[in-house]
Amino acid sequence: MKKLLMIGACSIAMHVSQGQTKTNTQDAKMNAFVNSLMQKMTVEEKIGQLNLVTPGGTVTGSVVSKDVDNKIRNGQVGSLFGITGPDKIRKAQEIAVNNSRLHIPLIFGLDVIHGHRTIFPIPLGLSCSWNMDMIEKSASIAASEATADGLSWVYSPMVDIARDPRWGRVSEGSGEDTYLGCKVATAMVKGYQGNGYSDPTKVMACVKHFALYGAAEAGRDYNTTDMSRIKMYEYYLPPYKAAVDAGVSSVMSSFNEVDGVPATANKWLMTDLLRKQWGFKGFVVTDYTAINEMIDHGLGDLQRVSAEALKAGIDMDMVGEGFLTTLQKSLKEGKVTIAQINEACKRVLEAKYKLGLFDDPYRYCNEQRFNSAILTDANRAAAREFATKSMVLLKNNNNVLPLQKGKTIALIGPLADNKRNMLGTWSVSGDPEKSIPVLQGLKNVAGNDANILYARGCNISDDTMFAKKVNAFGKEIEIDARSLQQMIDEAIATANKADVVVTVLGEAADMTGEASSMSDIGLQKSQKRLLEELKKTGKPIVIVLLNGRPMTLTWEDQNADAILDAWFSGTEAGNAIADVLFGNYNPSGKLTMSFPRNVGQIPIYYNHKNTGRPYSGVGTGKFRSNYLDVSNDPLYPFGYGLSYTSFTYSNVTLSSPAMKQDQKITASVTVTNSGKFDGTETVQLYIRDLVGTITRPVKELKGYQQVTLKAGESKKVDFTISVEDLKFYNSDLKRVAEPGDFKVFIGTNSRDVKDASFKLVQ
Ligand code: BGC
Repeated sequence: MKKLLMIGACSIAMHVSQGQTKTNTQDAKMNAFVNSLMQKMTVEEKIGQLNLVTPGGTVTGSVVSKDVDNKIRNGQVGSLFGITGPDKIRKAQEIAVNNSRLHIPLIFGLDVIHGHRTIFPIPLGLSCSWNMDMIEKSASIAASEATADGLSWVYSPMVDIARDPRWGRVSEGSGEDTYLGCKVATAMVKGYQGNGYSDPTKVMACVKHFALYGAAEAGRDYNTTDMSRIKMYEYYLPPYKAAVDAGVSSVMSSFNEVDGVPATANKWLMTDLLRKQWGFKGFVVTDYTAINEMIDHGLGDLQRVSAEALKAGIDMDMVGEGFLTTLQKSLKEGKVTIAQINEACKRVLEAKYKLGLFDDPYRYCNEQRFNSAILTDANRAAAREFATKSMVLLKNNNNVLPLQKGKTIALIGPLADNKRNMLGTWSVSGDPEKSIPVLQGLKNVAGNDANILYARGCNISDDTMFAKKVNAFGKEIEIDARSLQQMIDEAIATANKADVVVTVLGEAADMTGEASSMSDIGLQKSQKRLLEELKKTGKPIVIVLLNGRPMTLTWEDQNADAILDAWFSGTEAGNAIADVLFGNYNPSGKLTMSFPRNVGQIPIYYNHKNTGRPYSGVGTGKFRSNYLDVSNDPLYPFGYGLSYTSFTYSNVTLSSPAMKQDQKITASVTVTNSGKFDGTETVQLYIRDLVGTITRPVKELKGYQQVTLKAGESKKVDFTISVEDLKFYNSDLKRVAEPGDFKVFIGTNSRDVKDASFKLVQ
């Protein structure tokens, strides 16, 4: 068969005229090959290509695929996900290539979200590095491990903008900001796909969840979303578009509705916007059983929702088999056309062609790479480096951090000596046994320089019902046989012997991620109790927080001496946390999501509107847009993060007080490392459009630069502002820059900024 296909491909190549560009020639070759193959296919076989199955593994829906081998043999499967390893994948591929009538190879996909076998920090953590080279490298290493493990397709990047930390899936994204979200989307796609699949260490990426999945009402997963077109275009859609512009090969539809029509049947979204406006050329896969779920959305029976999905522009049906079981009937009844089936089939075959699977269906089944490219020392070293760069220092009173040498440290908390929770959510191929817990990391890094005592202190949660739900994928919350009081007593005795108490607290890995929404995002009661009791010892208290979302930490902020947000740091968590605690790495992460003071402030985000009765500070007048019981400000704002050193900013200077549409302005500050440590600072540029035909946010991130300064060193940082930075979508959904007054802010976070003013003139 392979031979036959190759002859088809070669003969067409002869018809290609000499003068065409390389890309055109390649496209022509591919078209000819795919067309000739499709001529041999029955309608059933074409529909088979649209079917994505999983024999198990990661199961997030209510069904798994049955009778997978037979379906592959019968040409009823186009792609498969949930298995890894070149041996297993080779076996499945052999069934398709040797036993199906047309020998069409399968694509093998998986959720590779933040690393594959070597797990990196959760995406929200990675985004806090604001380091796009690093993020690209993380995707590149993940691609290299995934391909060595037999895979050719990853369900990442997840680029859903989110402003509600109750939504558990904030952990999988890059936070609340669109500008940064676009940068991350681009970096991830480049890291996974590189310059194309001629490189066998690259995989096909899949941007998800298209679209607006992060705007679920009340932060409850899978819930309804509803927003204006301006809000979509301005804030929620650009990261998906950035992935498309970066050449992403596939797109995953989201579970939610958009404008009253579930994304999976939304023709405006999948065809008019994605393909016609944005020019997307790859294929669209549904999320897990998203077609079937449209029955519950209230769109009709399986036949109808499957037809609607196809007509909207969906090419591949994940697990639900709505396409497989109903499209032929719909075709006979005139509810879908053969052209629609052909189009979807063609897109899937094109992806296979681009991956090189028709040339070599086993190109990702390389035992030698499987044995040498996974969990290497270099990948682990990268994981450690990425983790240190992702952590955010939220508080550090009296320079309690970095920890001093030669002291006794009481390491306390349910996450302090815990492997299971280091990897975080969606680390389906990560082995928790290979992760470094904090206790071990501290010992590794401190060596003889510290005396480390340990006590567990409490359970992550004492609520057994809650633990049962969180433990769906494994024992993340273990309930100790001892009572909370017994554990606390042991912790107090340990703390009393120490110079400093380091508590490792937070969430279990799957308290965030899919279907992990929470209405209370503070520490669990048991952990709060432990902290309150430890506080009474009078020892300095450091909190190392492991979490997948912004949490409410008002009490902790008031009572702890230092708080280091380490997120879920991945395989090298313990070593990386120790690197930061002992000052081998000076923390440089900056928050990409605001931390609210309490749940009542949610949704909370820095680029909000001013309103007609703007907030003017606590206690300043009643008829303002504020709360009676809490300030409007978050506890820790977007862009916030401390360092062991301090950075001071000069005033902002502008190269000119005005610019025309075709001109540029340079905004500059001098940043000085005014502390005692060398360090890296992320200098942030925000802009506000003061008057517009539609209302504009109080500030928007438009640029940033990372500078590494030695203690005492200064550097001038310049930002070039062009008219592109001043544009927004107006009421006609046109991107325009309107002449008028603007403010530019530069600072260390979205709150602490210096400003200057300029005009855009005609
Ligand atoms: C999730 C996706 C994921 C898919 C396959 C779904 O439930 O929403 O993000 O890629 O399952 O595992």
